[in-house]
Amino acid sequence: KTRVLTGITTSGTPHLGNYVGAIRPAIAASRAPDAESFYFLADYHALVKVAEPARVQRSTLEIAAAWLACGLDPSKVWFYRQSDIPEIPELTWFLTCVAGKGLLNRAHAYKAAVDRNRAEQLDDDAGITAGLFMYPVLMAADILLFNAHKVPVGRDQVQHIEMARDFGQRFNHLYGEHFTLPEAAVEEQVATLPGLDGRKMSKSYDNTIPLFAPRAELKKLIAGIVTDSRAPGEAKGTEGSALFQLYQAFASSEETATFAQDFADGIGWGDAKQKLFERIDAEVAPLRDKYEALIAKPADIEAILRDGAARLRAQYAAPTLARLREAVGLRDLS
Ligand code: TYM
Repeated sequence: KTRVLTGITTSGTPHLGNYVGAIRPAIAASRAPDAESFYFLADYHALVKVAEPARVQRSTLEIAAAWLACGLDPSKVWFYRQSDIPEIPELTWFLTCVAGKGLLNRAHAYKAAVDRNRAEQLDDDAGITAGLFMYPVLMAADILLFNAHKVPVGRDQVQHIEMARDFGQRFNHLYGEHFTLPEAAVEEQVATLPGLDGRKMSKSYDNTIPLFAPRAELKKLIAGIVTDSRAPGEAKGTEGSALFQLYQAFASSEETATFAQDFADGIGWGDAKQKLFERIDAEVAPLRDKYEALIAKPADIEAILRDGAARLRAQYAAPTLARLREAVGLRDLS
């Protein structure tokens, strides 16, 4: 069986980037007959980004409801909260002890933080936590613990998966073939979905469109997407247009070709935004109704998550950690 695994950090409200980069491809992959899927809420990772307990809890609920609304079937895939699996932080330590510090120095998120400090003439590491620095090791533990083959993600996560391969390989070299080396699965069309301002859609840029924004808010947000100043009747380029890229992520190739022709024919930005709104809403509206029903019953979601984690620990996480403890020379706890 092909094991497919992915997670979303519980630091905010799920947005269209999470949906096209991770949720939609992951649900599609989970329906393949030979797939065994692992989808989880990365709440340990959230602690790197936010120190707001209520926000982490709310986000966990929202992201869990989003997965379920988008069609995840918890009786067919492993669906769990990262912090319900204590074997993950334990494996993180084993991997920390084989991870090259030099490799971690080159991680994009850490380097970007250092660059911001340099731009402000601060010490390189001013305000940077060891948690941010170690982020890729925790993520490697998520992936390697379950010997995932494929990890559906947006392009921003590819470097982390390469690091997971590196740490897994070093561990295998030292202790024997314990880990499968994972591969990123990136959908080229939607690898980096732009946000309202044209930069990558991201919680940290505050330019996101929430996946389940009510219809009126969705329309209003779409009206605010950046465009150039070309008037109706003037031909418009699709290259580098956030509006066009968003449309493409939600449309068939025929619809996208028609939309490109509209651009060439000089469609007005207001009309183009209306078309984009209708396309996104057509896909999201049925999911939004399910989401509203699910989020109203947090206790049901909690029960699903606890049950998923309990079964997953018993079947995979605990026996795997027992083997790994033995492999590195630690006492058997059973
Ligand atoms: P996170 O929470 O930032 O994002 C979750 C997923 O959404 C994708 N994504 C995007 N894809 C396309 N365009 C965008 N604008 C966009 N924004 C976000 C991300 O690529 C990701 O697939 N470290 C991870 C969570 C994680 C994880 C893992 C993922 C923890 N452990 C193990 C895979 C495997 C993160 O912060 O993703």
